[in-house]
Amino acid sequence: MDQNTKKQRVAEAVLDYIDNGESLGIGSGSTVNILIENLSKVKNKIRNVVSSSVKSTELLEANGFEVSELRDVGKLTKYIDGADEVNKHLQMVKGGGGALTREKILAHNSNQFICIVDDSKKVDMLGKFPLPIEVIPLSRSSVSLELIKHGGRPVLRENFVSDNGNLILDIHNLQIMEPIKLEQTINNIPGVVTNGIFALDHANVLLCASDNGIDKTDLNA
Ligand code: A5P
Repeated sequence: MDQNTKKQRVAEAVLDYIDNGESLGIGSGSTVNILIENLSKVKNKIRNVVSSSVKSTELLEANGFEVSELRDVGKLTKYIDGADEVNKHLQMVKGGGGALTREKILAHNSNQFICIVDDSKKVDMLGKFPLPIEVIPLSRSSVSLELIKHGGRPVLRENFVSDNGNLILDIHNLQIMEPIKLEQTINNIPGVVTNGIFALDHANVLLCASDNGIDKTDLNA
């Protein structure tokens, strides 16, 4: 089964996890785009929907949803998003699409994070996927120098400006052995808006599409 078919399967499978009266946070990326295309099937269950990117907002609106602001909704009942890498603790690397900051805000303000991936995203150790870091433009070089000290190779994402008007550095060659520690350390570098390690705000449930179907990991089960 190819990767796109797996993304399709998991994006459809997560519809069964949407309950009545949800205030739903919606992530970004190709897997989530498929979810949004299918979301109208459960529209009657969704009280509010909050989006993590301009792109997801546009797609939600094109599919008949009115998108709310987080400040008007408060706490989200669920946040659904993809990932670039996920480990067995459901810690992730995210931000391949550059929407990591708003994604992390929604993940942090949600009662439950359901991560939807295909099995190519499962890893033993995070870091093979270059770690995205959103930075204030002024700090691009100074943050890069700090990441070199951690053994990383920073590459500026070409021709890209985030929804928040900032730049993205993609850090290659990191072996993320202590995800929580590195997430906190990078966030403390002046000029960093967010980094793509989602260890503090890890997922609670993972739905992973493989050739054998959808594997579910629920950390609270
Ligand atoms: C977007 O900024 C990312 O965090 C996505 O969640 C991640 O890149 C996964 O995207 P795909 O579903 O396209 O693989």
